Amino acid sequence: MNVQNPSQQFSINDPPAAHQPRAVRTQQGAPTPVLHGIDLVMDYNATSRSTIQPGQPPALNHANFLVGEGERVAIMGPSGSGKSTLLHVLAGITKPTTGRVMFRGADIDRISEAERTRLRRQAFGFVFQSGQLLPELPAVENVALPLMLSGMAYREATDRALSWLDRIGLRHLMFSRPGEMSGGQMQRVAIARALCVNPAIIFADEPTGALDQNTGRDVMQLLMEAAAANNAAVVLVTHDPNIAAFCGRTVHMRDGIVLDAANQRMGSAANWPMGDGARVDGARNGAMTSGPMGGAPMMAGYPRNPSQGALR
Ligand SMILES: Nc1ncnc2c1ncn2[C@@H]1O[C@H](COP(=O)(O)OP(=O)(O)O)[C@@H](O)[C@H]1O
Ligand SMILES: [Mg+2]
Repeated sequence: MNVQNPSQQFSINDPPAAHQPRAVRTQQGAPTPVLHGIDLVMDYNATSRSTIQPGQPPALNHANFLVGEGERVAIMGPSGSGKSTLLHVLAGITKPTTGRVMFRGADIDRISEAERTRLRRQAFGFVFQSGQLLPELPAVENVALPLMLSGMAYREATDRALSWLDRIGLRHLMFSRPGEMSGGQMQRVAIARALCVNPAIIFADEPTGALDQNTGRDVMQLLMEAAAANNAAVVLVTHDPNIAAFCGRTVHMRDGIVLDAANQRMGSAANWPMGDGARVDGARNGAMTSGPMGGAPMMAGYPRNPSQGALR
């Protein structure tokens, strides 16, 4: 195996092109890497705030994970195998004990805290199992929140949020608070909130775990269509093979290790041939200047009429 050419290795588990029509591809046909977790160890014993028993194996035990621009990857594995920890480490929420996370070729541990925060807010979107919307805010402000945290003025942020609610068929709920919505509606709002910053990557941790099967499928369809329209990569944790099937590739975790061979081998390929070098500007394709309100290219192909797509 030629470790000097990670893009070739990356193609090992690459799904058929038809599954990922919008993924950015290199000349070899492999997706351009967007995020790479390298030899990640997360030992909660080593953190001073931990309350767990000494001797417990690390939550991440030299895990490697790679996702390409616009790619959709499902992570499956038993409870406690480290899936959520991996997601948090990849997203820069939790600092690993050892190992590195590279975003478009830049080590996110070596950038300043301010840059890392900007990255989380502008390049990454998050959808959790139960939405984690703020209960006291109406839907439109919940969606607008990440934009406002990034410095956008209230009016512009809520205009953009409203446009997202429109597109997912929930404009009529703009003033509703989470307590007044169904589980499926809350997850749709959470998806709009994740997408409204035009992220490069959406992290979803069991986003359908609290939904019935039909609602879960509809929510997944919305998530995948919106991500594809945005060319956002999706890293999805799920227990459900039917949900994982929405992704082009599935990797399995056990005991803090990503089992799949392609990801394991990527661990030695620390240096990517990154086309755009150490770019850490979270605002991709002018994220903060082109959104749904601007008729931006990110929405190309996005069904405008909810009845035409899965955007119900
Ligand atoms: N904040 C934490 N402090 C201590 N241990 C934790 C913490 N979060 C997770 N763990 C432990 O790390 C392991 C992996 O957990 P997690 O990543 O949540 O797994 P999964 O999402 O696959 O169920 C488990 O043994 C869990 O108990
Ligand atoms: Mg979990």
